[in-house]
Amino acid sequence: MNAPIVSFNHVGKTFEVDGAALEAIRDFNVQIAEGEFVAIVGSSGCGKSTLLRLLVGLDTDFHGTIEVDGKPVTGVGSERGIVFQEHRLFPWLSVEDNIGLGLVNEALSPVERRQRVAAFIELVGLTDFARALPHQLSGGMAQRVAIARGLVASPRILLLDEPFGALDALTRQHMQDELLAIRARAKITTVLVTHDVEEAIFLADRVVVLEPRPGRIKQVVNVDLPHPRQRASFAFHQLREELLHELTHADHYTPVAPIQVRDVPLAFIAV
Ligand SMILES: Nc1ncnc2c1ncn2[C@@H]1O[C@H](COP(=O)(O)OP(=O)(O)OP(=O)(O)O)[C@@H](O)[C@H]1O
Ligand SMILES: [Mg+2]
Repeated sequence: MNAPIVSFNHVGKTFEVDGAALEAIRDFNVQIAEGEFVAIVGSSGCGKSTLLRLLVGLDTDFHGTIEVDGKPVTGVGSERGIVFQEHRLFPWLSVEDNIGLGLVNEALSPVERRQRVAAFIELVGLTDFARALPHQLSGGMAQRVAIARGLVASPRILLLDEPFGALDALTRQHMQDELLAIRARAKITTVLVTHDVEEAIFLADRVVVLEPRPGRIKQVVNVDLPHPRQRASFAFHQLREELLHELTHADHYTPVAPIQVRDVPLAFIAV
């Protein structure tokens, strides 16, 4: 691999909750090459959002180092864009003004700014809602505004935390295709957090499987399937089975004692 654009080195994160230490991340090591697409999957609470917050620079209190272009992350930077798990739109700003916030650090003329915002509103299919306020949108529409805001400044590194979770299946597939098209035009390095194994395989070059408490890497799976990927293909299906197995089988599985049914009338078992 060439010098990685993103490097997590022995990253650990512990929160304090009610005076007790809660170890959220342990010894997380991942190197990401420029232009690579990495998906992180894992059960709820295993530290996925925490990892993205650390990489985007919103939380600098952690162990180990995170480097971008070989320099330690010490705060937020415009080369890193994030779409949060909750959309975090400003309720008093219209759709176009919320998206325009993604351009605050860009040196653009007002006309260029308007054109860029309009192009991304169109991309997420909200042209008729450009002047609408967030409370006039559905959850999925609000999430699409957040996606447009994350993409509008063309960041070199894009962090996506469950960005398509609130979308219906058709819109979700459409947004996945668009994300791949945007990446094909501009080599954006992408880190996607998702619960959806199929989404991870459809989009990513590598899938990092986390296991919980504390969050740590269980396995890293390369997805060597050519694009456009066929969800119905055998290879796709096989990878999905492998990843689902990784996600659902704990290393230290304790078998549950078999239920004793000997003395119980069958009628009771049925209800
Ligand atoms: N600010 C915080 N203070 C204390 N504990 C926190 C904080 N943020 C996260 N945690 C804890 O860290 C762990 C990881 O949380 P995180 O939000 O990263 O999980 P996640 O993998 O994104 O889960 P989900 O899939 O449900 O979004 C959880 O146990 C959570 O309670
Ligand atoms: Mg999360």
